Formats: sequence, C-alpha cells, structure tokens
Amino acid sequence: MNDFGIIGIGRIGTSMARNMSSKGIIVSLYDKSHNSLAKLKSDYPELESSLVFDDIYKFISSISKPRKVLVLVPSGPALDEVISILIKHLDPNDILIDGGNTNPNVSFKNHQTIKSKNLLYLGMGVSGGVKGVLEGPSIMIGGDTNAFDQVKNIFSRITSKTINGSKSFEFFGDSNQGHFVKMIHNGIEYVEMQLISSIYYLIINSKKYMYDDVAKIFKKWNDIDLNSYLLEISLLKLTEKTDNGYLLDRIDDKADDNGTGRWMLKHAIDLGCSVTMLNSAIDSRFISNDNNTRSKANKLIIEDKKEYDIDFESLANAYMFCRLINYFQAFLLMDSANKSYGWNISISNALNVWSNGSIIKSKLINKLLSDYSVDNILDDKNVFNNLNELKPGLIDILNTSLINDVSLPCFNEALNYFNQISSSSLSTKLIQAQRNYFGSHEIKIN
Ligand code: 6PG
Repeated sequence: MNDFGIIGIGRIGTSMARNMSSKGIIVSLYDKSHNSLAKLKSDYPELESSLVFDDIYKFISSISKPRKVLVLVPSGPALDEVISILIKHLDPNDILIDGGNTNPNVSFKNHQTIKSKNLLYLGMGVSGGVKGVLEGPSIMIGGDTNAFDQVKNIFSRITSKTINGSKSFEFFGDSNQGHFVKMIHNGIEYVEMQLISSIYYLIINSKKYMYDDVAKIFKKWNDIDLNSYLLEISLLKLTEKTDNGYLLDRIDDKADDNGTGRWMLKHAIDLGCSVTMLNSAIDSRFISNDNNTRSKANKLIIEDKKEYDIDFESLANAYMFCRLINYFQAFLLMDSANKSYGWNISISNALNVWSNGSIIKSKLINKLLSDYSVDNILDDKNVFNNLNELKPGLIDILNTSLINDVSLPCFNEALNYFNQISSSSLSTKLIQAQRNYFGSHEIKIN
C-alpha cells in the first residue's frame, strides 16, 4: 500500500510526485489521460517505486487508509468530476486535498459536501510553478485540523525553508482560508508582474534603450532591495533569443489569466475594499485581448512617439512605492476578510510562507516582515513615512509617462490611492449631496 495519492499528472502534478518520491514518500499516481502516464517512469527515475494508474478505482485501492489523496486538476468541471467520484469511493476519515487554484467560495462549498460524506478536507494553494513545486513549493492550507495534523509531516519534507527558518507551509484556518491566501498571493503576483512590465514598456518606448539595457537595469535592481523572483525571470526573458531574434520581438502582447485575480477582485467588491492595483493589472490583460477595440482605435489615433529621458532613481522609487501600495491593499483586504468572516489569518504568517518557494518571493517580503507591523499596517508610521519619501519619484515618472503618451498600468492607481487615503476630505462629499438630491438618501454629517 502506498503512502499518498495524486490525481492529475500534468506539469505541476509531475513535479509534486517527483518531489515527494525523492523524499521517500511512496506515491500512487492517477491521470485519466494516458499521455501523461506513458513515459513518466522512464523520464523520471525517482518515480521508480511509485505506482501509475489510469483506472481510478485501482488507484484508490492502492493507497493505505486513512487515504490521503491530493487532487491537482483545474477547478471547474474537471475538479467537480474528480470530487464526485472520490466522495463515492473513499472511506470515512480519508482525506481529500484540493491542491489547485480554487475559488475560496467553491472551496467552502466543496468542504461542506466532503464533510457531509464523513471525509476530511484540505483546501490548499500551492505556489512555485513547475520548478518551485519540484524543489520546494510554498503551500497555503485550510480545512479540517485533524486532516492537517495527519499530513503536516509530509508537507514539512517537501517544502522550502522560509525567511524565519520554518518550512514553507502554513495552516490558515479550518475552512477555505488556504485557497483564500493563495488567491491573495496571486493578486499580488498579477500586480508585481504588471509593474515590471510597465517599467520595461516605459524604458523601451523612450527609444533610447534596447532589451539588453532593460535587463541590465533589472539586474542592478535585483542585486539591491528591489530583488524578486519575478524581476529575475523578467530579465532572463528580456535577453532570450530565438532563431529569428529576440523572443520579445516574436511574441504578441495578449496576456491571459486563469481567473484567480478576478476572484480576488470580486471578493474585494463584496467586502467593499479597494484593490485598485489589482484592478488595473487585470484590466491591462483584458485590454490586451480586446483586438476589436484596439485595432479600430489604433487606426484612428496617430501615434507620435518621440524620444524621452528617464530618471532611473525616480523609477526605482516609483517602483517601490507601487509595490508597497500593492501589499498595503492586499493586507487591508485580508484584514477585512478576517473581520467579516470571523477568520484569524495571520498576515505575517502568509508573508513568511511566501518568502520562499513562491512566485512572489522577494526581498520586499523579507523587509515587510522585518521592518513593518504587517498585521497592523494602519498603525505603522514607517510605511507612511516611506511612501511619502518615495512619492516624488512616482510623480516624476508619471509626468514622463503622461507627457509621452505611455500608459503605465498600476502606477497612476498607486498615487491616486495614496493621495485619497491620506486626504482629510474627498470628492465623495458632493456624491453624498447628489444622492440626496435624486434619491432622498440621508446625508451623513460630520
Ligand atoms: C503560482 C502561480 C500559479 C498561477 C499562475 C497563473 O503561485 O505558482 O500563482 O498558481 O496559476 O501564475 O496565473 P494566471 O494564468 O492567472 O496569470
């Protein structure tokens, strides 16, 4: 009998299986696609002792009880199908772990269904991509505490070491908090990706620099406190060449998404929280895919791009300002979720678990943990002082972008947000009065 079962042997499932097997955890693997299984053992010798199945019932029978089954399939119909089979064929107290990117609302419902069948559930976000999952992912868990107690030893063997020396997995609460924390991670990731991309775009459009120059700037930043995994991979991609020249000259600009950012935006709307950075990052992906509007507008507006100068110190400060605002908004959303849903997600624990193995690992995360009171960010004077110091750099960069017609998604939003939250009076005073006029809504007086 094997220790652990994995359903879904795609790229992430394969990495997870290899990681576990190399730590001596004997795994049973199931995928309904024969292609995923065919060359698995010959391609990866570490999977020698694992058992590979294309029959889910034989797969289930091969795992020792109480069974621990990790499902790594896309959320939606594929996940629904696997769960409906498992709840019929697993035995009481077996543990079903959903390790995919699942909407926290769906994770909550799945937990209820699974619990009603006397099975145990863990909703688990896994970050790191194909390489990270192989080498030591960052894992965010929620669900049944007694299920977690039974599998934590396994997670401690396959994860990385965090900045505070613990292993990069964490239990965030007895329901869907694991998937919620992963969703927040992804929202932060979207903005970090957009900020780097906006910077690349500003530099290239100045017509004074080439991809290699941008890569050199990113390399310099990566050696200081602006360092991050995403910056590191961006600089590699900037210099990547194909047979026909630079990769970036060969690919188009249409960026897709798997939905996690949209879920976070919807959660923020439900909670009445502002996540303008994420909103802008998602919008920029949507706009990139809107062929029809873009091709029509592009024909009607004559682009007149001229050379311009960039102050790189301002750019570095603007970048840091925007990154801080991104985390600030994410923290306030987590705080609001804690209050509204009666949760107790620790923001410092989330940062710690993201500090290694995750896609958003960075020196900023380490700095947030060491220099700021992240669990009470609104009481932290430090963060506001830092933002104030960095703000002139952002204004300088926004001036450059506005004068030269270069769009900088997420940059404008950061300044606007900061100016609004730090202002004693807002434009919404008049909105109150307007609502009162046409809807007789009550006017709130100071
Ligand atoms: C991770 C990533 C990963 C996510 C991709 C794709 O932490 O390993 O967050 O889980 O699925 O980054 O996200 P998009 O397709 O929406 O960009």
